[in-house]
Amino acid sequence: MAFLADSLARIKPSATIAVTNKARELKAAGRDVIGLGAGEPDFDTPENIKEAAIQAIRDGKTKYTAVDGIPELKAAIAAKFKRENNLTYAPNQITVGTGGKQVLYNALMATLNPGDEVIIPAPYWVSYPEMVALGGGTPVEIVGPQSQGFKIGPEALEAAITPKTKWLLLNSPSNPTGAGYTRAELRALADVLLKYPHVWIMTDDMYEHLVFDDFEFATIAEVEPKLYDRTLTVNGVSKAYAMTGWRIGYAGGPVELIKAMGTIQSQSTSNPSSISQWAAVEALNGTQDYIPKNAELFKKRRDLVVSMLNQANGIVCPNPEGAFYVFPSCAGTLGKTTAGGKLLETDVDFVTALLEEEGVAVVQGSAFGLAPYFRISYATSTEALEEACTRIQRFCGNLR
Ligand SMILES: Cc1ncc(COP(=O)(O)O)c(C=O)c1O
Repeated sequence: MAFLADSLARIKPSATIAVTNKARELKAAGRDVIGLGAGEPDFDTPENIKEAAIQAIRDGKTKYTAVDGIPELKAAIAAKFKRENNLTYAPNQITVGTGGKQVLYNALMATLNPGDEVIIPAPYWVSYPEMVALGGGTPVEIVGPQSQGFKIGPEALEAAITPKTKWLLLNSPSNPTGAGYTRAELRALADVLLKYPHVWIMTDDMYEHLVFDDFEFATIAEVEPKLYDRTLTVNGVSKAYAMTGWRIGYAGGPVELIKAMGTIQSQSTSNPSSISQWAAVEALNGTQDYIPKNAELFKKRRDLVVSMLNQANGIVCPNPEGAFYVFPSCAGTLGKTTAGGKLLETDVDFVTALLEEEGVAVVQGSAFGLAPYFRISYATSTEALEEACTRIQRFCGNLR
């Protein structure tokens, strides 16, 4: 449509939201569908956080606030960065937005010029390349192959850096693979980055608290303090505190960048919801007791899903370090025909037939930059997961 902006031609709508909508539609039409597409915890926001929000409403904390966050929330974020990441950020080095998504978007809008390159390790969160494209930049994808746990190494990083590289976008633990970079792996990437002072690092630490077994979360500005001056450390309350609907994300970084991000936000959305900000103060300052409990629950589900998927014909499911996703390969199913008579040639065929024939909604790996795979979000009840995996086993068992 000629009326629409050219920039819209450069981006595509979110594949994960599309699958969630499709599953919802089928459900509404009476089909028995298990949705494993959504990337949000299935449990409720903790009571102490809800109470803080209700109190904020009663206290009349319902007006515009400072664009990039109330001082109390910035103080809580600074304390969190110190306590959990050993990073020191002053209030003017912290910004709060409507979800981590807006914070990432602000940072790209505030820094990208036409032709600027952003290195994005694949598989990646669907929004990264689209946001870069919206900002007029060029996404440069480098693949972290399954053989390397879906992570990139220093050689691949170095080979992708050009004089036009503006950012490296890191996400650990990752959506969609659950892969987490160890301190040593970040150290190796940092050694490359030290040689290229024009490259900045945007690290999306949204799944920091969802790590399993003996994996220890680390973030790059802490691993290499010499990178602190060109790192934007992004985080949020959505995943750790089951607060996806509240829309609060934040970042710590260099003063000038943070100020520019605030300028973008001031002319677009202004402050994130005042009530949600007060809820986030309680999330960060209040009890953290349920975080390890949630991680333990997710670990049990991961173990269940990985084990059941590896028993499905043609599926290979690596064991991820964190987040609430698995990213199995469906390469072994391609070239075969389903019970319903569909020939599977791609991962899109696989997920489409799985939804149509067994009512299980997952997202194709190609949406995240690596095929033939699919992503399962296991942030849903254990019973639903068991049933979904049983259906996947049946679906794969019926392939001819
Ligand atoms: C890797 C990653 N980053 C950022 C976000 C955005 O989270 P929010 O905007 O809810 O803070 C998500 C949500 O799915 C995510 O998976």
